[in-house]
Amino acid sequence: MDPLTEFSRLFGKAPLWQVRAPGRVNLLGEHVDYNDGVVLPAAIDREVRLAVTPATDGVVTLYALDLNKKASFSLDALEQRLDLEGNPLPHWAEYPAGVAWALRQAGLVAGGMQAVFTSDVPIGAGLSSSAAVEVAFAAAWRALGGWEMDNLTLAQHCQRAENAYVGVKSGLMDQFASACGVAGHALYFDTRSLEWHPVKLPPGTAIVVADSGMRRTLATSAYNQRRAACEQAVALLQQYKPGLRSLRDISTVEFAAYSEYLPEEVRRRAEHVVKEIHRVQQAVNALRGEDAHLFGGLMFAWHKSLRDLYHVSLPELDALVEIARGLPGIYGARLTGAGFGGCTVNLIEADQAEAFLQGLQDGYRQRTGKEAKVYLCQASAGVSAQSI
Ligand code: GLA
Repeated sequence: MDPLTEFSRLFGKAPLWQVRAPGRVNLLGEHVDYNDGVVLPAAIDREVRLAVTPATDGVVTLYALDLNKKASFSLDALEQRLDLEGNPLPHWAEYPAGVAWALRQAGLVAGGMQAVFTSDVPIGAGLSSSAAVEVAFAAAWRALGGWEMDNLTLAQHCQRAENAYVGVKSGLMDQFASACGVAGHALYFDTRSLEWHPVKLPPGTAIVVADSGMRRTLATSAYNQRRAACEQAVALLQQYKPGLRSLRDISTVEFAAYSEYLPEEVRRRAEHVVKEIHRVQQAVNALRGEDAHLFGGLMFAWHKSLRDLYHVSLPELDALVEIARGLPGIYGARLTGAGFGGCTVNLIEADQAEAFLQGLQDGYRQRTGKEAKVYLCQASAGVSAQSI
């Protein structure tokens, strides 16, 4: 569906701006962005597209084309999370409403608007469909408000919307990748210093995302529990290492010495994070050396950590990783994103893409009786807004 055409049909006039914001895949560095670690995501060529025009009455009117739903809310009722009729905002509208709330809290102009949006980022698949919505709306308010702000700062406002308004205690990775993506590149992003730079993928490689089709309910509370376990580990480890601020501050050797003082579940969660933070650096070195075999080997090895220590995989995701291991052209595969269902990411030889995609779908069907959706992805540019 084209949001521009639909906008004209629904509002009887042409929109003034169109905005696009991509989803993302994460290659390595999972569940480390809320522990001050380094991550390696890439924005992908699946995106939210938004057509928008300002409204002077302080009301936001939204059409979610894919859901065939409409919501209208007053900017004065953001705190109450009510629509114009006084009903609770539907969940999908909390993302744009949260962005307006976060921007206004920061003293920025986020006024009334009429908007129509659509997305081809699969929902709940760990590809940051919600971050893409947030970033698209933040960029729309920036364009309509005529204020200037770099994309990284814009992403931070979106993270605040997600944390404080929607209630998911996520890190900054997803909003960052959607805002700052660079075509043809993964992004090295240090979530402590906020320094980042694009990293070229090894020549002749391609990224494949495989959606298991599995979605776990209560993923939000499970995610927030993981974060709480990390915070508990930091609080306990501070007794042995004063000055420790996050799991970034502990070496794997120190962790081995102190880990016996942690309760079993907290120990496992923290072990994943501490080791994952250190191995991302190793993986980046592999990328710099254009060594797809080494990088891929690390992806395989570390899927296990998400499965056994962080406990965010599912048998279907493990199956996708195992099937990929036996296919032509594979360098590496692992779960991507928060987990609890969703997708694996695969680094493959570009020339073998067709055989790989077919093999993965066939293998998954044979092994699980379920259908996987597979996408050959291009690393893409981050958010952009265009006046019409
Ligand atoms: C979700 C969160 C991110 C990150 C990943 C796991 O996508 O939104 O901030 O924590 O999970 O790496």
